Amino acid sequence: MAIKPVLRMGEVSLFESSEEVCEFNTAALESLLTDMWDTMAAENGAGIAAPQIGVNLQVVIFGYENNLRYPDEDSIPQTVLINPVITPMSDDMDEGWEGCLSVPGMRGLVPRFTHIRYQGLDQFGHSIDREVDGFHARVVQHECDHLDGILYPQRIEDMSYFGFCEELESNHYFQI
Ligand code: NI
Repeated sequence: MAIKPVLRMGEVSLFESSEEVCEFNTAALESLLTDMWDTMAAENGAGIAAPQIGVNLQVVIFGYENNLRYPDEDSIPQTVLINPVITPMSDDMDEGWEGCLSVPGMRGLVPRFTHIRYQGLDQFGHSIDREVDGFHARVVQHECDHLDGILYPQRIEDMSYFGFCEELESNHYFQI
């Protein structure tokens, strides 16, 4: 069990692109994934990307049965996704509230593709190929953005819908 400190926005490495993973089923990868699952669980995250714990590799994890940070959303299967490629299945975009463990205490309204296909590999090098929509699609786009050095505030179109959770909630923008 190793809960790692989560790097916060402002840290230069969060804005860098991550390297592809070339070796699978290794002790180093397993240890990275254990740290990521432990850190995500400790912070009640819906997902986390390796760069958030200071490792600039193309590795993200996401998924949960019930999530305290997003209590109204459907469950997402727990997934390890490495070297991901996202393909939008249509031009349709949806706006939804997002938070990020690297931007604690804040939320913002972010446009994302509604319906995507994502492909990649798991920790054993087995291929993953799924077509998803809704919050599942949103979470995957958010996590994979971390691998391109993009944090969700950079995607917000109207900055009046970005702020601290308590203030946004008291404006009835959303319920925590
Ligand atoms: Ni994030």
